[in-house]
Amino acid sequence: MHGVERVGVIGSGQMGGGIAQVAAQSGFETVVYDLDAAALGKCKSLHEKLFARAVEKGRMTEDQVKETKARLTYSDQLTDVHPADIVIEAVVEKAEVKKEIFKGLAGSVSDRAILASNTSSISITDLATSVGDKADRFIGMHFFNPVPVMKLVEVINGLATSKETTERVLALAEAMGKTAVPANDRAGFVSNRILMPMINEAFYTWMEGVAEPEHIDEIMKLGMAHPMGPLRLADFIGLDTCAHIMEVMADGLSDPRYLPCPLLKQLVTAGRLGDKTKHGVFRYE
Ligand code: 3HC
Repeated sequence: MHGVERVGVIGSGQMGGGIAQVAAQSGFETVVYDLDAAALGKCKSLHEKLFARAVEKGRMTEDQVKETKARLTYSDQLTDVHPADIVIEAVVEKAEVKKEIFKGLAGSVSDRAILASNTSSISITDLATSVGDKADRFIGMHFFNPVPVMKLVEVINGLATSKETTERVLALAEAMGKTAVPANDRAGFVSNRILMPMINEAFYTWMEGVAEPEHIDEIMKLGMAHPMGPLRLADFIGLDTCAHIMEVMADGLSDPRYLPCPLLKQLVTAGRLGDKTKHGVFRYE
């Protein structure tokens, strides 16, 4: 059993907000923390919108929304996550920033609390060095965007993660309505190790003039039954994120074949980051 009643989430962006929403909807007392009050406000209004949509679609009743909201707290005080039985971090993909957060948490959470990172590619073993003798309770819990919709949680064991921690997190992810699949700690884990080279190859295909971006996407959507083409998906994930994950893999796997395509890097340099800047491979209104 997972032994979790209270979930703390660090970061109220797309991923953190989604994780907090799913945790609260699954019956857990949930605190989502962000030092940026404006980001917390945005997260709360997105939740309101999604709850209203769920009622409209008959997926939740008004009472269920009320109960879920009562379980969900938005806080800009880090101490509010300290009583949590698991803290799931979903902040910017920078190892130093994550380590600083975990270092602080390690001394403040209970002895049985699990410390989890939603990192998409940074080494769990490396992040775990920030929590001293709590490394056995440190684990990767990799959710997928949009969190309320995507079924998978990739559960990543660092070198020191205990079997008990893995089992608790697998059970917790299932209790959150997800399918949990374990993987070991190598840069990119399984999901991004396979997804990102495909996306990178789509940029090379475009750069070499093999086809127009919309045609590349159409071929992959219709021929491979992907819900989004790789270039549309790159915009959805963020071109900066895709390039960063490729770099983490090139470094972590010591292999230059994972380096980001020059065209992908160029778009990032130009500030064309995808959906979030309304212009990436494609333009968005
Ligand atoms: N939050 C909550 N629900 C959302 C949502 C969001 N952000 N976005 C879409 N949905 C819901 C919609 O409400 C809708 O449900 P409803 O009609 O019953 O209300 C349902 O999802 C379908 O949405 P749409 O009809 O608007 O659009 P689509 O049918 O095109 O689906 C999609 C959108 C679910 C995003 C689909 O295109 C898809 O599955 N795309 C692939 C996503 C993917 O591959 N994600 C993984 C990215 S990689 C990653 O996250 C890892 C990281 O490490 C990089």
